Amino acid sequence: MVIVPGPSSQELGYRIAELLKQKIVPIEFRRFPDGESYIRFDADVRDEDVTIVQTTSPPQNENLVQLLLMADTANTLKAKTITTVVPYFAYARQDQRFRLGEAFSVKTIVNLLETCGVSKILTVNSHNPAVLETLRVPIEDLSAVPLLAEHFKKKGFDGACSLALGKKGLATAVEADKVLGGGSKYISTQRDRITGKVTIEEKPLPVKGSDVIIFDDIISSGGTMMKAVAWTRKQGARTVHVACVHPLLVGDAENRILQNGADSIVGTDSVPSHISVVSVAPLIAKALFKRGAKR
Ligand code: R5P
Repeated sequence: MVIVPGPSSQELGYRIAELLKQKIVPIEFRRFPDGESYIRFDADVRDEDVTIVQTTSPPQNENLVQLLLMADTANTLKAKTITTVVPYFAYARQDQRFRLGEAFSVKTIVNLLETCGVSKILTVNSHNPAVLETLRVPIEDLSAVPLLAEHFKKKGFDGACSLALGKKGLATAVEADKVLGGGSKYISTQRDRITGKVTIEEKPLPVKGSDVIIFDDIISSGGTMMKAVAWTRKQGARTVHVACVHPLLVGDAENRILQNGADSIVGTDSVPSHISVVSVAPLIAKALFKRGAKR
């Protein structure tokens, strides 16, 4: 297997290659003055099992086009197989046609990857894993939640309560609780399908005097998390920490969450940021290793 660290996941790609002790194929890339991307493979990939690592966080459209250019080029260069590791999968939240006439965006992206010769996709905590199973390319969805929970355990929060957002998120809290052991709960949320605005159900939460870690897959504008933090504080939690897999942190998201009472915010390097202190490299390396062993 050869690893191709894409422009958006250079550090992560190199880490994965190092863990797997696999050869790296560097990519020469640049942006033309008009914003278009230039991509060139700096080594031959003929007959190789090629694994491209490229997250698609903002600027997601640019990162997606680069991913398509890399996959299609590997295909043209006659790679044996093409796997793409896309830790943050852009457009995964548009996982159905909520309203008549809407794009089913995640399906379109997967179809494009298939056209470019991709035969397998690995991602991390995708928004709706069940939908991924219905798409045209096999997608393996890995979970970084235990790694985030381990981080807090090491920081002395063994026994903290794991709180998730939305009923669907409860599985996340249960997963974290296997590491932290202080119980799992969720706050119900509702998203307006037209405006995208999220409201949280302000029901009593039995967290008085507890350390609480709130888990979510994505922090984008921070609107959802900031409301959850404020409510958890109001319920008398002793400390409130935030753990997210994909810290998109659009605009002032981080400050909004801290100003509403969060003691800390931690994310993974699925999306490189200054709060990405937990690495998903070992998780991805393990999955690729298992896959290689099966081949
Ligand atoms: C929602 O379904 C997700 O799990 C996140 O809670 C949401 O995408 C976060 O978005 P924002 O930070 O803009 O509220």
